[in-house]
Amino acid sequence: WILMATARSPTNIAVIKYWGKRDEELILPVNDSISVTLDPDHLSATTTVAVSPSFEQDRMWLNGKEISLSGGRYQNCLREIRKRARDVEDEKKGIRIQKDDWNNLHVHIASYNNFPTAAGLASSAAGFACLVFALAKLMNVKEEYGELSSIARQGSGSACRSIYGGFVKWAMGNNPDGSDSIAIQLAEETHWNDLFIVIAVVSSKQKETSSTSGMRESVQTSALLKYRAETVVPSRVLKIEEAIRDHDFASFARITCADSNQFHAICLDTTPPIFYMNDTSHRIISLVERWNQSEGTLQVAYTFDAGPNAVMIAPNRQAAALLLQRLLFYFPPPQDTDLTSYILGDKSI
Ligand code: DP6
Repeated sequence: WILMATARSPTNIAVIKYWGKRDEELILPVNDSISVTLDPDHLSATTTVAVSPSFEQDRMWLNGKEISLSGGRYQNCLREIRKRARDVEDEKKGIRIQKDDWNNLHVHIASYNNFPTAAGLASSAAGFACLVFALAKLMNVKEEYGELSSIARQGSGSACRSIYGGFVKWAMGNNPDGSDSIAIQLAEETHWNDLFIVIAVVSSKQKETSSTSGMRESVQTSALLKYRAETVVPSRVLKIEEAIRDHDFASFARITCADSNQFHAICLDTTPPIFYMNDTSHRIISLVERWNQSEGTLQVAYTFDAGPNAVMIAPNRQAAALLLQRLLFYFPPPQDTDLTSYILGDKSI
């Protein structure tokens, strides 16, 4: 027999960035972070997990290619879900798995990303959130979402925020065992329905410094990281929570842009410095800043993660359409380009 479960999780975009761990093993951050979870139709992971007595070992395929599960992060998620597994019964198939059986049964995992190929937008956030959800479904884990988020966190920090839709806070917590370092939903998916997110793919190249090693180097060498975590983020978090609650786009946009810029300033303050943005990223920032200043009110927010691609947030459809128009004017695509796969920085598809 074989028993299967499938889950789908979207990726999330941080507006207050997570950058730096106080515990590398448990993945505990040095500051709270806040993100918006995208619509699953666009950037999401879909994962199917299967169990059968005929499986001889745990195995996983990512976008059709087998990958190794030996890394600690996958093992942490599998172990934590197995610990919470319950009895499962499927009368129709005549299957009865008792909770202790899960320790001797192996799983096969197949995960797909619907991210545009070659866009360099691969996301561990969607992947680990989805893996945890799918395993929890298969093994009849009944824990609350907060607890599932703390398991996803042990796969990749940012994954804990993808457990919820809408606006989400990852509270850094204080407990050394990480039990209070969990995600909390600040507002539901429908709370700020007018917002539009435009992602400009600036480069399709894989980033040179992974988030994991980049933040380790920043923790070790950047004095600005410590200052930001202790002094800047706590008040920013309160202000952006207020802006989200009140649909105050100007305040939301100001904090989002400032936080992205400070995160990249920390990268420059790291020894040796880390450059995630490139010239095209900088041109996009200038374009948005000029536009915002000329209009008197903030039209668009921008934020950049550990790479050069720009994520822009517009307050409504009209502003998003104007933004697209401007991007196409300043970064004209070659003739006959398929705009859905146009990469701004490469000047090619
Ligand atoms: C810049 O969650 O990928 O996107 O916990 O080491 O897996 P690990 O790091 P990861 O870092 C994400 C960093 C970021 C900011 C953010 O999403 O908050």
